[in-house]
Amino acid sequence: MTETLTRLAYQAFQQSKISFGLAHKTLSYRLRDLIAPLKESSIKPIANEVLSKLRAKLAQLIETDWQDAERGIYPVSLLFDNPWEDFFRYYPMIWLDMPQIWERAKQKQHQDFSSNLDTSGYPSYYLQNFHYQTNGYLSDLSANLYDLQVEILFNGSADAMRRRILAPLKRGLQSFVTIPLKQIRILDVACGTGRTLKLISSAVPEVALFGTDLSPAYLRKANQLLSLGPIDLPQLLQANAEELPYIDNYFHAVTSVFLFHELPPDARQNVIEQCFRVTQPGGLFIICDSIQMSDSPEMAPMMENFPAMFHEPYYRHYVTDDLVERLHRAGFEQVTTEMHFMSKYWIAHKPKISLSSVNS
Ligand SMILES: C[S@@+](CC[C@H](N)C(=O)[O-])C[C@H]1O[C@@H](n2cnc3c(N)ncnc32)[C@H](O)[C@@H]1O
Repeated sequence: MTETLTRLAYQAFQQSKISFGLAHKTLSYRLRDLIAPLKESSIKPIANEVLSKLRAKLAQLIETDWQDAERGIYPVSLLFDNPWEDFFRYYPMIWLDMPQIWERAKQKQHQDFSSNLDTSGYPSYYLQNFHYQTNGYLSDLSANLYDLQVEILFNGSADAMRRRILAPLKRGLQSFVTIPLKQIRILDVACGTGRTLKLISSAVPEVALFGTDLSPAYLRKANQLLSLGPIDLPQLLQANAEELPYIDNYFHAVTSVFLFHELPPDARQNVIEQCFRVTQPGGLFIICDSIQMSDSPEMAPMMENFPAMFHEPYYRHYVTDDLVERLHRAGFEQVTTEMHFMSKYWIAHKPKISLSSVNS
């Protein structure tokens, strides 16, 4: 009885997030068309058939999310975790920031940073207003608005998609079952505001967590979020994912969520190679990012619209990139993939050291 009620409550909670996301987008697009219409638009209308497939995939994601909680991959309470304080504090700011975003999109300005921000030392591909966001990833305002913006973009399903890394992560950690949990080290690369680290900490509470990101503002936000919980504060470091500041073979598992579509092809390979280097033999690496053309051709109109609506300069290449081949090239093996709603997951293993290679 309680279980049925909780399940219904979760479905109602997700439905309210879907309705909110749709209402926000409908209203904001209408306002934009009225106030700051784009000069020319390459956005294609989405057929009803595609929209109903999308709704079915979202419903399946919510069902899988519930089932994984029910079978103990993570606590059911995690399904209801929502940054309410941030929502009430920062949602109005999303509307206040919107005219600047529209103007940037209209003028196709995507390297627009306040003069008081220090932009030195970052790779040039990073100094972009991804999604035309004000000050890219470099301001505290951007960090404060990010989670809400992603939630709206995915109609409230961003965490449900992030949580899909948890079942393969726990399965993969079985290889280290003889090691006490406290000695297990997990790194989240490009951890942003820390949501994935928070989810991992609920699913495997005692492990030592580490996070890296290039943005000091996003790391400050992650620090705020993660210091609220009962867990030991993860070690957060500012670092380029192409040059991870850790010794070889240090982590039992490495994860990365929503990073790869924002990297140019060479950087994607470099990051994979760095993740291979810092993963222990027998450890695993999990990538979560957008679906791709080859396995979701029916979603092609969505994938074509995404970089046309938001500034995403590397997305078109990303959706046709063969990450399985890249992972193998770096040395990973047993690479499997999964799809959930708008995300794809690559689960890759670093080979165990065989006795023959030790002796040779
Ligand atoms: C779309 S956000 C994803 C953030 C977070 N993982 C999440 O699940 O929401 C991309 C993140 O990647 C970071 N990033 C982009 N390029 C990077 C690089 N080369 N090295 C480290 N972080 C990078 C950005 O600062 C940003 O926090």
